[in-house]
Amino acid sequence: MRALPILAALLATALLSAALAQDKAPIDAGPYVPSPDSAVSAMLREAQVGPDDFVIDLGSGDGRIVRTAALVFGARGLGVEIQGDLVALSNELAKKEGIAGRVKFVTQDLFETDLSQATVVTMYLLPHTVNQLQGKLLAELRPGARVVSHDYSLAGWRPHKTLVMDLEEKVAISGITRTSIFVYVIPARVAGAWTASVPPSLSRQAMRLELSQQVASVAGQARLDGAVVPLAEVQLVGEDLSFSLAGRDAVFRGRVRGATIEGTVETGGVRAAWRATHAK
Ligand SMILES: C[S@@+](CC[C@H](N)C(=O)[O-])C[C@H]1O[C@@H](n2cnc3c(N)ncnc32)[C@H](O)[C@@H]1O
Repeated sequence: MRALPILAALLATALLSAALAQDKAPIDAGPYVPSPDSAVSAMLREAQVGPDDFVIDLGSGDGRIVRTAALVFGARGLGVEIQGDLVALSNELAKKEGIAGRVKFVTQDLFETDLSQATVVTMYLLPHTVNQLQGKLLAELRPGARVVSHDYSLAGWRPHKTLVMDLEEKVAISGITRTSIFVYVIPARVAGAWTASVPPSLSRQAMRLELSQQVASVAGQARLDGAVVPLAEVQLVGEDLSFSLAGRDAVFRGRVRGATIEGTVETGGVRAAWRATHAK
């Protein structure tokens, strides 16, 4: 019977250690180094931020990215930052600028921030931190959301756009004027097999599409009446997928919506509708 209190004590110790582990300090994703104003404008311009956007800046410093998104581009947004004094300054500046109804800054760990409402995520963080966020960005953002990173690229992701500029202000930060802005678009998930209805001139039976995907890079092949044809010029930008059939006169364009793709195919000078569903 004496084993019971010992077991209870061991369990209490285990629960306490688990609670302490959960309460651990946030990972430092980088020191406070504000992006020069021209880099901020370029990040928002290249991501085509507009009034329909909700911008989240991860590690928001004095709030300049989210404040500029609201003031200049008409967006709404949220800045998350671990330094409370910078959060207070950001909210104060937003109030003075008359945008406090559209932007908010909170003291919060960026790794614990829910990104699901963002249409644009911006960051100017240490290179390894940017890469630690890859899984979170893919899991929480909707297809079509843009991710903009100042200076550090996401390893293994093909940027939708890259802008390289020379800014004198960067010499004091990184010792060189070179400044890079990487824009990524979160892709729809297309990997796997699809069954597609296509014009009979291409295939009398349903076409089978077999796609592999590494973030936004897609490759694959089509099976048409028994022939295996590699796909060429495959592009996936958010939900917009396009490809041609190697050696055949056929260009497909479509929009991916969950388990269906709908669009048009141009073949033999004629444009027709095509539709695919994800094969189970
Ligand atoms: C290089 S500054 C960028 C500031 C701002 N985004 C800009 O571009 O002007 C990085 C910011 O991230 C903040 N930061 C670092 N680790 C963080 C974390 N785990 N959660 C939230 N903010 C963090 C730092 O305090 C710092 O203000």
